[in-house]
Formats: sequence, C-alpha cells, structure tokens
Amino acid sequence: MMAPYAAQAVGENEEFRRFFVFENGTKSIEIAGDLMGKKAEEGLNHFKNMIAEKPFLKSRVQPFMEKLQMIVDHGVLGVGTAPYFIVVAELRGVPPVEQESIAHCLENMWLKATALELGFHLVSLTSQMAEEEEFMKLLDIPVGNYGINGCAIGYPSSETPRKSRPDTKKATKWL
Ligand SMILES: Cc1cc2nc3c(=O)[nH]c(=O)nc-3n(C[C@H](O)[C@H](O)[C@H](O)COP(=O)(O)O)c2cc1C
Repeated sequence: MMAPYAAQAVGENEEFRRFFVFENGTKSIEIAGDLMGKKAEEGLNHFKNMIAEKPFLKSRVQPFMEKLQMIVDHGVLGVGTAPYFIVVAELRGVPPVEQESIAHCLENMWLKATALELGFHLVSLTSQMAEEEEFMKLLDIPVGNYGINGCAIGYPSSETPRKSRPDTKKATKWL
C-alpha cells in the first residue's frame, strides 16, 4: 500500500488499490486457475491464426507461444502450486497508468518477500483477466474500473541462483 500511485490520474479515492489473496487448495483459486488457463489457450489460438496468415512473424512470437502452451498443458505456474496467489488491482485513471503503479507495488512486495526469505513469482497473465467478467466477479469488482496484475508467494523449494546481468556502466551513457 506504501508504493507510489498515480494520485493525479485517479484523484482522491480511498480505494485506489486493492489486494486479493487466493489461498492454495480453495475453490476460488481453482476457478481462477481454470479461467486463466482458458485465457492462455485463447491467446495461443490467436497467435496460431496470426502465424498461419503471416508466417514471417513465427520466430518473433515462438518463445511466447511456447510459454502459453506450457500454461495450457500444465496450468498457470504459481496459481495452485504456490501457497498464495495475490492479485493487485489499481484504479484506472486519466492517463491510464495503473500497470506502472502495480509494477511499483509488486516490486515492493518482491523486496519484502525476499527479505523474509520467501519465493516470489510474477504471474503476468493476470493482467489479461481484467476484462473477463467471470474473473472480475470472483474479485467482486466491476470490469473496467481497475487494472490488475498478480504474483505467487511461497517458500522456495530450492535456492534462487545468482544471475549475471550486463555491466551497468556499459549500458549507461552520460550526456
Ligand atoms: C513485466 C514483467 C513481467 C514478467 N512476467 C513473468 C511471468 O509472468 N512469469 C514468469 O515466470 N516471469 C515473469 N517475469 C520475470 C522474467 O521472466 C525474468 O525477470 C527474466 O527472465 C530475467 O530473469 P531474472 O530476473 O531471474 O534475471 C516478468 C518480468 C517482467 C519485468
């Protein structure tokens, strides 16, 4: 809740940000997982039709299609596999910058989870569920008012490996 939000875009509103915690093993997380699986399948079919029409796009969309196929085959990673799936909803304003606000919020949650030695996983497919009546009914908020995104949190089964990143100095230009 302490993460920045776009006050100028949404105005004075106590309900600018909401959290929805899905616990593993409940009926609600099962429904959420099913609806998200359907959404992934829809996306996969969309891309299949697209490359049937424009085969030259195949190499660009292939990695994302493989990810969608994995969701269709095995379910959404973190939804029903981690102890908690958390949806963050942010009020849409003018200009519509709710996803930026949610990203700040999720980053704060990620840092806190890490400090608590918990595992944290972004579940980006969640953002696409904001226009889905059934999913939003589950949250009990109307379609259209909020943008959403989500994450999964739990105890990591293995230690997260250290990742190397490109050299910041090389990526930075002083002007
Ligand atoms: C906007 C954004 C969305 C992401 N969505 C997902 C996701 O849905 N599922 C996932 O496993 N990782 C997701 N990630 C994590 C990236 O896959 C990960 O950060 C990237 O592969 C680099 O790996 P590293 O952060 O471990 O170095 C996302 C990252 C960003 C910035």
